[in-house]
Amino acid sequence: MDKGQKFYITTPIYYVNARPHIGHAYTTLVCDAIARRKRLLGYDTFFLTGTDEHGQKIERSATAAGTTPEKFADEVSGEFRSLFERMNISFNDFIRTTEPRHKEGVQELWKRLEAKGFIYKGTYTGQYCVFDELYVDAVGPGAPCPECGRPTETVSEENYYFKLSEFADKLLQYYQKNPSFIRPESRRNEVMAFVKSGLRDLSISRSTFKWGIPVPGDPKHIVYVWLDALSNYCTAVGFGSKNPDEQKRFERYWPADVHMIGKEIIRFHCVYWPAFLMAAEMPLPKAIVAHGWLLFEDNKMSKSRGNIVRAETVIDVLGNDALRYFLLREIVFGQDGSFSFDALVQRYNSDLANDLGNLSSRTLTMINRYFNGSIPYPSPLVAKKESDGVIRDHALNVIAEFNQLFDEYQFSKALETAWTLVGACNKYLVDEEPWLVAEQEGEEKKSRLATILYTACEALRIVTALAHPVLPDATAKIWHQLGLGDITRFDLSDLKWGQLPLGGKLGKVEPVFPRADKSVVERMQQMEQERSPKAPDVQQSSAPATQAGNGTVAGQPVAQVVPQAVTQAAAGPASGAPAPKATPAATDGKITIDDFMKVEMRVGEVKFAEKVKGADKLLRLEVDIGTEVRQVVAGIAISYEPEKLIGRKVVIVANLAPRKLRGLESNGMIVAASFGEDGKPVLASFLEDVPVGSKLK
Ligand code: MSP
Repeated sequence: MDKGQKFYITTPIYYVNARPHIGHAYTTLVCDAIARRKRLLGYDTFFLTGTDEHGQKIERSATAAGTTPEKFADEVSGEFRSLFERMNISFNDFIRTTEPRHKEGVQELWKRLEAKGFIYKGTYTGQYCVFDELYVDAVGPGAPCPECGRPTETVSEENYYFKLSEFADKLLQYYQKNPSFIRPESRRNEVMAFVKSGLRDLSISRSTFKWGIPVPGDPKHIVYVWLDALSNYCTAVGFGSKNPDEQKRFERYWPADVHMIGKEIIRFHCVYWPAFLMAAEMPLPKAIVAHGWLLFEDNKMSKSRGNIVRAETVIDVLGNDALRYFLLREIVFGQDGSFSFDALVQRYNSDLANDLGNLSSRTLTMINRYFNGSIPYPSPLVAKKESDGVIRDHALNVIAEFNQLFDEYQFSKALETAWTLVGACNKYLVDEEPWLVAEQEGEEKKSRLATILYTACEALRIVTALAHPVLPDATAKIWHQLGLGDITRFDLSDLKWGQLPLGGKLGKVEPVFPRADKSVVERMQQMEQERSPKAPDVQQSSAPATQAGNGTVAGQPVAQVVPQAVTQAAAGPASGAPAPKATPAATDGKITIDDFMKVEMRVGEVKFAEKVKGADKLLRLEVDIGTEVRQVVAGIAISYEPEKLIGRKVVIVANLAPRKLRGLESNGMIVAASFGEDGKPVLASFLEDVPVGSKLK
């Protein structure tokens, strides 16, 4: 490598319709670890992240939240940024697609594509998936999106098209010639099969909503959100800028070395993006690397499933390094992997508190005690044993293997390899018993003690340097304790055995990973519960469980089902139920129309339903409400078989704060009548077909 060679790495830019969770944190911290390693190796590294803020999905989410897209985007983008700052993510830039620099660049790219003859105007009539922001030509009206299974909308509009069909052969040739362009191999095969099946021209503008970047010369159209979003990788480093310094920056860093993405957005990155760049005659990124999903309770962690864990919870209790180490060590990169608090704490205690923490504190404490805090001289001749050489050779192998594995994105194996040295070294200390050697008299014993502790200390230094990109905080502390100063100034490309300065003074020795006791898991679970916003009063009125028609169904609290009594409240509560607290009566127990209008009811479609384990009356539903799929826990099991509900339209109160039931987050209520002694629920339904997402008023 030439010293100072550039390395440019990007995360996907995150949609601002959902708050950040550890799924987002995962992509970002993987990139952070790679960026930190490249910096240590001497690369001029540029690490980009940011937020994707345009499109119908965001516009609708903002409307649903009762605010403007601008304010909504500011708020959620701010949350991503401050989370990444808290996580000590070493990004060099955080781009927002609502920034003027980005708009300029996108319009410039559009003009280039147009000037080269790859854009034309046509009319599209067909299905559109708002969730994926994707035209789905292959399906008919009313059919679900083949990508995500959500309902599509029929649209007919005049659009600009990109001549994607002209790029199938060029792309295939490119994939063939550049086998490491798409990684891992399985994803490359997937993409090649997709392109081989033929490419159709791509609609790259929309005119039915406003929240986006205007098409140059035709501002009633806005640029397709994926063309807008993908361009961020260029616009952030100066593409389209009139400023000469920015132009130089673009020359310096483009093309990106790595676009890191989740597996669900491969097509956009591996087909559309390279085709746009080929058309604009711009260099292609060197590699697109796809990772798997983080699962929680066996499902992809996502807002709509309500099974997210926030990074802040782990950071608050165990610190940044614990989260980073766990995700990189536990998950086989490229595959899906499960997150659980138990596994996190177990991994933390065994690998960090016990293995590395122990090696560091016992070695450094003994150097303090027996050598007055100075790195001892290992005797080159006397008092050497074979076991010392075994540790040295082990360390040399680990350096070579770790480098190779890490650079092939096999983070888990790389860490496992490094930890074999930690384990071997802890065993070496147990076998060599330096504490007993210290009690024996004579120069030779002193030399032996020096050799043992030097050997352990040198192995510790090597693991610390290798692990720094993954454990930046703890390794920085250990490096200081080793008396080596600022670890970020170390040249990792030069790492070898024997660099520990003999006689060097240790810094203050302190434990780095305090052990986590059992209560830590409970604390994190509790924090997650408390962090989910509380349900408003209307949900929490504690009406007796047996009362039918007043907000409880068959013993379940109000949050699961809204009996029609609630929907009828504008005309006065049926069956004499008290008015819910959140909608105070105007007079005589009645509420005003304004109060009623606060309740947002929408038509949803049940996509999935199952019984909740251990709860006879509860079903867990996944309900599509047009803008997203919500998880709702509903007390309707006594009336409905889960399988029979799939595909059924229901009415959902969409603006309720989520709450947990039997450990599951319920995001909204299903409206149902409730009658009889046991409060048998009957779902509200329509005689006519009503599109998903329609509002009730
Ligand atoms: N805005 C688009 C990307 C545009 S890039 C030009 C987008 N945004 S997203 O917020 O929905 O997802 C961004 C990334 O977050 C995913 O590609 C993935 O890397 C990460 N993840 C979101 N949920 C995740 C998990 N549950 N698990 C792992 N990664 C996840 O797609």
